[in-house]
Amino acid sequence: MKNNITVLLLFLVPYLLPAISGIHPHKHFTSIFSFGNSYADTGNFIRLAAPFMPFIPFNNTPYGETFFNQPTGRATDGRLVLDFIADAFGFPFVPPYLAKGQDFSQGANFAVIGATALDLAFFRQENITTVPPFNRSLSVQLGWFEDLKPSLCNTTQGKRKHTPFLNDTVILGLAVYPERSDYDHLGCLKKYNDLARYHDDLLQSKIQALRNNYPYTKIGFADYYSPIRAFLRTPAIFGFNSSSTLVACCGAGGRYNYNVTPECGYPGATGCADPSSRVYWDSVHLTEAAYRAIADSWLHGPFAEPPILSLAQHCFVSSWKESVPAAA
Ligand SMILES: *[C@@H]1O[C@H](CO)[C@@H](O)[C@H](O)[C@H]1NC(C)=O
Ligand SMILES: *[C@@H]1O[C@H](CO)[C@@H](O)[C@H](O)[C@H]1NC(C)=O
Ligand SMILES: *[C@@H]1O[C@H](CO)[C@@H](O)[C@H](O)[C@H]1NC(C)=O
Ligand SMILES: *[C@@H]1O[C@H](CO)[C@@H](O)[C@H](O)[C@H]1NC(C)=O
Ligand SMILES: *[C@@H]1O[C@H](CO)[C@@H](O)[C@H](O)[C@H]1NC(C)=O
Repeated sequence: MKNNITVLLLFLVPYLLPAISGIHPHKHFTSIFSFGNSYADTGNFIRLAAPFMPFIPFNNTPYGETFFNQPTGRATDGRLVLDFIADAFGFPFVPPYLAKGQDFSQGANFAVIGATALDLAFFRQENITTVPPFNRSLSVQLGWFEDLKPSLCNTTQGKRKHTPFLNDTVILGLAVYPERSDYDHLGCLKKYNDLARYHDDLLQSKIQALRNNYPYTKIGFADYYSPIRAFLRTPAIFGFNSSSTLVACCGAGGRYNYNVTPECGYPGATGCADPSSRVYWDSVHLTEAAYRAIADSWLHGPFAEPPILSLAQHCFVSSWKESVPAAA
């Protein structure tokens, strides 16, 4: 607990002035629109998949147990980074787009668990069957946004083509049974993290190009990779148990508390006693405690460039990068 407070202050001190002088950051924003995958989905997948999947793990306990006391379709025990960011700006939780009948006047969330940057057609062409047949790629999500826009504003200005944010793809041969030498000192698979860093370098140069092309738009870069490395490197500072940084809170045993049968959300898998002491919730996704710490590091720095609170005017486009934990 003490450690948590220390960290928050460390993060806050250099940014206290801009945060305070911004006064009411909410007033500079009118809405939040979110795109992405399970790191940001607040309930779209469970609605999209309901007609096809009789049993959806994310719609079962212990998902949601920490904050909502029930599953909400978020792939964690509580809130996501997006929830903490919305809260910091005085917005309600950003409603999932597929929950029809919601008030989207302050924003909508288009993110879907398992969403890919590339279209489903690409995976079909390449005979890649590990991607479930749900049509929810980034371009589909942008299409949903286009569909929603007339109900939000009827201006003909600002019509735009979709900028191809992520037009770089690398397909890596995956080692299913890695050797000891494939891991780094934190227990992470080096090859995957090399790929993540390579992706992020490309993304950052794309973002710089976008900033040059749209000088009146504020475009921030928020980083998942570095805060997660920080959690693994110095877990105690963030209140995490240093002997179980890579062990999932929810699972059914095994070295990483991960088994394919059953996974978290299925009968036979259980949550741990204290999710706030864990980084990983279900081996793929993080705990609310981890998402809260990431949100702090994005709002105040140092893991967003620029820190989100300092952007408190006009528009913010977030991009994300993910760290790759040890293979389970
Ligand atoms: C995918 O599978 C089909 C049918 O088996 C085959 O004709 C096609 O060449 C395959 N495509 C690739 C990219 O391997
Ligand atoms: C996915 O949805 C988009 C937009 O609705 C559509 O154009 C596309 O054909 C769909 N793709 C597949 C594989 O169903
Ligand atoms: C925009 O126009 C559509 C169709 O005419 C209408 O249904 C919608 O309510 C309008 N939206 C706003 C924000 O005025
Ligand atoms: C992606 O980039 C390549 C090379 O810059 C270009 O040829 C291609 O048309 C782009 N694809 C899309 C979907 O924008
Ligand atoms: C940390 O995790 C280890 C292994 O799961 C456990 O034995 C220990 O009791 C935990 N420590 C605390 C302070 O919770």
